[in-house]
Amino acid sequence: MTQQTSRTARILGPDDTGVAEAARILREGGLVAFATETVYGLGADATSPEAVAKIYAAKGRPAFNPLIAHVTGLEAARREGRFSEAAERLAKAFWPGPLTLVLPVAEGASVCELARAGLASVALRVPNHPVAQAMLARVGRPVAAPSANRSGRVSPVTAAHVLEDLADRIDAVLDAGPTSVGLESTIVACLDGPPVLLRPGGVPRADIEALVGPLATPVAGKVEAPGMLASHYAPRARLRLDALDLRPGEAGLDFAGRFSAGSSTAVLDLSPRGDLVEAAARLYFCLRELDATGAAAIAVAPIPADNIGEAIRDRLARAAAPRDGG
Ligand code: TXA
Ligand code: MG
Repeated sequence: MTQQTSRTARILGPDDTGVAEAARILREGGLVAFATETVYGLGADATSPEAVAKIYAAKGRPAFNPLIAHVTGLEAARREGRFSEAAERLAKAFWPGPLTLVLPVAEGASVCELARAGLASVALRVPNHPVAQAMLARVGRPVAAPSANRSGRVSPVTAAHVLEDLADRIDAVLDAGPTSVGLESTIVACLDGPPVLLRPGGVPRADIEALVGPLATPVAGKVEAPGMLASHYAPRARLRLDALDLRPGEAGLDFAGRFSAGSSTAVLDLSPRGDLVEAAARLYFCLRELDATGAAAIAVAPIPADNIGEAIRDRLARAAAPRDGG
């Protein structure tokens, strides 16, 4: 089941049988991609270094980045991380949901050191997805899961995207249809000092700040999300951000109907009615579609920076960054 020989991932349905099989494979140390409300995750038993090592191998991550451990709820999370008052407040408000908390490792925690990349902190998330929840409950252990794409590629929001990247490298994918949020969780570190926003994501900054006050920005060399550096969400095509029009030969990633589509150009609108939540849900899907047209460049219309727009702009900026080969 988990040999590294050539294989093709099994596609499991989101019913009891599929969930039970996914959980069995994970408990035996295999790799299962699964739907969450944000993006598809590439799951492995977070308590097993052997299983976690397979994640790094399958993704082709050049260096070991720490992984998010997914758990069923606050109670399970308390066994893994030490909650400050702010962390407690955030967990109660946003779990289950697209928020990841980076906390000091609790004594007797089960998430292995490799999943944490040797750090004294652990990233914890409680996904708000019934199939992911059912799977986690059956595994009965934390499940480590980065986005289920090869390193440096756009995160998957459907099972088909997962298979494009990883079909021959994983045991199964638990297919529960397209994800609803469409981009990754917000990551907040609650270590010593005020909470730090490590990555904008599904929960808007303003909602978090309403509960715990202004979020600090990461200080270089101190707490960082190491996987967030450089070009992380890169399509093949070059991106031209905040474009006000389309140039010849460019594909267009539009927002609120700004571009008038030329006859032969491929244009997709993230949200014709200018809804940022809809735009986030469609972002990676549209990037993949436009990339598949073979266009050398994609013009991207301006996206407002409020609410989940901050996360959309963050991902676009990374997708537009010079390639680092990672
Ligand atoms: O929505 C999500 O968060 C998805 C789904 C599958 O849950 N997962 C995800 O994982 O986006 P990944 O591996 O692509 O991103 C995890 C980020 C990385 O940038 C990593 O560096 C950071 O979390 N991270 C994990 N543990 C950390 C820690 N202890 N301290 C700082 N950053 C950490
Ligand atoms: Mg990722």
